[in-house]
Amino acid sequence: MANDKIYGRSFSVTRADRERLNGHPSGVIWLTGLSGAGKSTLADGLERKLHRLGKRTYVLDGDNVRHGLSKDLDFTDAGRDENIRRVAEVAKLMMDGGLIVITAFISPFRKEREMARTLIGPENFFEVYLSTPLAVCEHRDPKGLYKLARAGRIQRMTGITSAYEIPEHPAFIADSSSETVDHTSERLLASLGWICRGSGAGIDD
Ligand code: ADX
Repeated sequence: MANDKIYGRSFSVTRADRERLNGHPSGVIWLTGLSGAGKSTLADGLERKLHRLGKRTYVLDGDNVRHGLSKDLDFTDAGRDENIRRVAEVAKLMMDGGLIVITAFISPFRKEREMARTLIGPENFFEVYLSTPLAVCEHRDPKGLYKLARAGRIQRMTGITSAYEIPEHPAFIADSSSETVDHTSERLLASLGWICRGSGAGIDD
């Protein structure tokens, strides 16, 4: 690759300018947990609350991204690593664009989550662990994937035949089997002090 012959170009409108225009800081809220743990549901609930408060947001979700940006990738370790690398890069660009980005990916490997944290900058990165137990996720099985995995009909299912490495020091933990999404997103919002700085326009329901 000839990346050493490519030079970065900086533009005159900066992230700080965009944040000023928006009236709030940008950053990345990184959700991680098993399939069926409630990541997408929490991302949706949190985004709705932030949006009502007048914050500019965007959700990057595993099932959607794997139909587009990452549709060429599989669920091998290498495929997941590349998926998370792409998502981290896109989240960083969106953050630079002034948005509060919520990512909802299993992101099972510690090394990749740490890569994302380093790339995005630890001061901009808020890790949320959805700790919903495997037994609950498997019981919910909204897409029937756990059943297929137990029957040996799909390979490398996270929690069954592929590892999930629990975060060591998440900024926030929630278990969707013992708390409503409304309560979790309210609690999460309260712990996102950096985002609540500034004044968003705010909208009514
Ligand atoms: S990640 O491991 O690379 O972070 P990602 O969050 O993008 O995964 O995609 C997970 C979604 O893909 C799950 O919600 C599930 O619907 C689907 N999926 C299909 N096959 C698998 C598998 N083998 N393991 C986990 N999820 C799978």
